[in-house]
Amino acid sequence: MTDRDDAQARIQQLCADLHHHANQYYVLDRPLITDYEYDRLFQELKRLEEQHPELRPPDSPTLRVGGEPVEFLEKFRHPVAMLSLDNTFDEEGVRDFDGRIKRFFGMDEGTELQYAVESKLDGLALELIYEGGSLTAGATRGNGEVGEEVTHNLRTVPTIPLRLTGDDPPPPAALAVRGEVLIPLESLERLNRARRKAGDAEFKNPRNTAAGAVRQLDPTVAAERGLVFYAHSTADSADLPFATHSDFLDAVPRWGFCVAPGWTRCVGIDAVLAHLERLAAMRDELPHEIDGAVIKVDDVSLQRRIGQTSHAPRWAVAYKYPPPQKPTRVNEIVIQVGRTGALTPVAELEPVLLGGVTVSRASLYNREELERKDIRAGDTVLVQRAGDVIPEVVGVVSERRPPDAEPFPFPERCPACGAPAIQDEGEVVTRCTGGFSCPAQLREGIGYFASRVAMDIDGLGEKLCNQLVDEGLVQDVADLYGLELERVAALDRMAEKSALNLLAALEESKTRPLHRVLAGLGIRHVGEHVARVLARNAENLDGLRALSLEDLEAIDDVGPVVAASVRAFLDQERNLELLERLAAAGLTMEAEAGPDESAAFLTGKTFVLTGTLPSMTRKEAKTLIVARGGKVSGSVSGKTSYVVAGGSAGSKLKKANALGVEVLDEDGLRRLLEPE
Ligand code: IVH
Repeated sequence: MTDRDDAQARIQQLCADLHHHANQYYVLDRPLITDYEYDRLFQELKRLEEQHPELRPPDSPTLRVGGEPVEFLEKFRHPVAMLSLDNTFDEEGVRDFDGRIKRFFGMDEGTELQYAVESKLDGLALELIYEGGSLTAGATRGNGEVGEEVTHNLRTVPTIPLRLTGDDPPPPAALAVRGEVLIPLESLERLNRARRKAGDAEFKNPRNTAAGAVRQLDPTVAAERGLVFYAHSTADSADLPFATHSDFLDAVPRWGFCVAPGWTRCVGIDAVLAHLERLAAMRDELPHEIDGAVIKVDDVSLQRRIGQTSHAPRWAVAYKYPPPQKPTRVNEIVIQVGRTGALTPVAELEPVLLGGVTVSRASLYNREELERKDIRAGDTVLVQRAGDVIPEVVGVVSERRPPDAEPFPFPERCPACGAPAIQDEGEVVTRCTGGFSCPAQLREGIGYFASRVAMDIDGLGEKLCNQLVDEGLVQDVADLYGLELERVAALDRMAEKSALNLLAALEESKTRPLHRVLAGLGIRHVGEHVARVLARNAENLDGLRALSLEDLEAIDDVGPVVAASVRAFLDQERNLELLERLAAAGLTMEAEAGPDESAAFLTGKTFVLTGTLPSMTRKEAKTLIVARGGKVSGSVSGKTSYVVAGGSAGSKLKKANALGVEVLDEDGLRRLLEPE
């Protein structure tokens, strides 16, 4: 035996021992050795692998700490499509599901079918591929057919076995296990505490945080996020030696997988309903979020016979819970003034932890909503997060109202500038009439003018806008172009170099086309698309000024409300002056050269964007589509050409599938935007 042979044998032994102990610790919760002993074995393996890198097995436990970053995420085609689940929300839906299955099999109504009932984990769906017992690939669900390969990150997750263990029954030679990766609430709180301390934005919810970690290029990020994987199904139930799904759930922990706590076998639908109640009661005590339960026909041969629709198995259904709610106190109601002068009441809340995220304020939307819900300072209210993200006050717990709580006196004047606040006929929004003489509107307005959708002025962020307004250097957007170097450089925390950069960015922005200037001015109802249409018709400032109400109404895509708003803007002397001062400052304000045939190749195509795209915002996607002549609409219909679906796409994607509308992911969209 050579040294090398010794090392090889020892490495193999250490790997086997460490895999075994990891399973005992993470999955079975029955550690056989102390953490100290585990670390010693781990360090010994690490040392040997450093001496003999060529002997490091591809599934070595030392890979857990995060290997080399990858350059991009490869596409991964799932050998068997990863389906979705049909949803139901109440007892009736669950009973209908049971009835449907019995009817399909021609069973007597009184038959008691056996079901496996599991919690529905609110994580990111994954598929893990094992060959010869080793993890060879792991991928996200993606659109069900094609996901992204994220093996480098998944190797760092302690509850994803790198090598399958056990012999009762032995793991098969080929196995595709599916499940959810998620961040336990406690880990999310820990991450958010650290982020608060560092002054970073907090993670908004556990699912997105897990998804963000899994889709990183550098595996050290995933290694630090405390991810957990729970197995819930397999792509190859036909090839496995289990007659029931619950036998599968019983067996997989011996192979090294965690199964989420709280699952059970139930005989008959009444037993299922009773277990759903038990699971709901457990919900607040679980270490992670669940958003419902999944009810599955237990018998695998029945599953196979009943099959699936194009998107979901017929043998399973998800029973969805309403989002979690918590009571907390309204400390104060304040009014925020937005870019367009909208006065938004906001509840300042006693901070409350909701699904791993601290909620301390929630928009009350507008006066009507505030009055309808009759929310008062001092009230105890129930809060939830709409779409798992946006904090929302559901209602007041009236029995806990303090006797001295007064209705909120909605201001008649803007709290930022004192101008009258008015509510237009048929509008729910109360608006400050101060325009740019209102410092709050001015701050927001300048920020919007500088933002990427408008003039794209590098370095002019929220903080600097506030400083410029507060110091009285800027009273409207034209003042930006008169800024002097010394005054800017003298601002707090501003060095001469950044001041120079700002002035250069302002200079550079002077050649932006007319539509960007128009989009940046905050004219009501003039977003990016309308601004483009207007600019195309007006060509330049003179052309714009000359457009009558009739001219405006005659433009495609400009309706009477938009036309009236544009004309009203142009009829105000001070707006014309503003435009003239911008021109005098050197802004060219010319329409972009009309889209030639090749640039407008998406003319006539209508897109609907849904879900979160991996690397661009919906706004960015819209800009790119519109720039090529396409249209973006909010709802899917028979006229929709494409639905662009990102993560957590919901009903729009369903509708697209139902109507047979072509669905694109981000890559598909990019290919369409940049045809070779
Ligand atoms: S079984 C054919 N079991 O829910 C569907 N899915 O709405 C097989 N999910 O992306 C999936 N918890 O990843 C199953 N206990 C559970 C689940 C579960 C969460 C996810 C699943 C899928 C989504 C469908």
